[in-house]
Amino acid sequence: MSDTLDRLLAESRDRLKAVGIDGAALDARHLVSGLLGLSLAELVTRGGEAVSEADAARIRAAVARRATREPVNRILGEREFFGLALKLSKETLEPRPDTETLVDSLIPYVRQIAAHKGGCRIIDLGTGTGAICLALLASVLDARGLGTDISEDALATARENADRNGLAERFETRRSNWFGAVEGRFDVIVSNPPYIRSNIVDELEPEVRLYDPAAALDGGNDGLDAYRAIARDAGRHLERDGVIGLEIGFDQKQAVAALFEAEGFRVLQSATDLGGNDRVLVFERDVDRIINR
Ligand SMILES: C[S@@+](CC[C@H](N)C(=O)[O-])C[C@H]1O[C@@H](n2cnc3c(N)ncnc32)[C@H](O)[C@@H]1O
Repeated sequence: MSDTLDRLLAESRDRLKAVGIDGAALDARHLVSGLLGLSLAELVTRGGEAVSEADAARIRAAVARRATREPVNRILGEREFFGLALKLSKETLEPRPDTETLVDSLIPYVRQIAAHKGGCRIIDLGTGTGAICLALLASVLDARGLGTDISEDALATARENADRNGLAERFETRRSNWFGAVEGRFDVIVSNPPYIRSNIVDELEPEVRLYDPAAALDGGNDGLDAYRAIARDAGRHLERDGVIGLEIGFDQKQAVAALFEAEGFRVLQSATDLGGNDRVLVFERDVDRIINR
């Protein structure tokens, strides 16, 4: 006798619950829905339908992976960010909803610059899946973007995501250690760099610690290494009236602001994430202090 959708969903939920996965029922639904290409509503309305042996085997294999704490979206190989379907790969961070706050904060600046200049050049440092840059390009049609990363795997994934979402013509990639291999100036510099203190990385949830790449998480002893590197060179790569948008850790607002203020920028805007934590800083040049950059 073949399994029904209902039976497989219950079996999956119970297996995940048994190993202590929070939200086991939801994870089971998302896995089955993603694997079979059914909406969450269809899982309910078609619950009595039989599932083929091959599909049942795929579902059981995916549930076994989730039981070892691999995140649902990594198992499915993609996730949604700002309305874009983004492929994930070994060396890409799974984009987080909190990062949408950074995109939301920057869209008005990108729009304003594009309207004023007839275009807007964006650089996304540490682009990963391309999430931030691609979301900005999807939102402002006159914008163009360069995504950089230290990881070739991430850059290949970002290019594929640009292609999948019809943005490839306005998106380029370059392998670079922060600004190391970058030339020229940009209207918007954006980054969600690794910002977790090295000694905290081992304490993160297994879903993050075991499956997000270390290079996407570890920000050095005080979590600020990447901000220091970006702040040091940003002045040489920012257009006169450009802005810098950064994602930050919940307790890093003062420290990151101080690093950029020391390099001749001032905070233009800050924003909190969905949980009310400090998450975004936007800087502009401090024109009173800049002489010769
Ligand atoms: C926190 S992840 C952010 C990924 C993506 N921008 C996002 O928001 O989902 C940080 C990214 O920085 C990249 N990275 C780490 N060190 C780097 C470096 N020295 N130069 C450039 N990129 C780096 C990582 O490979 C990773 O893709």
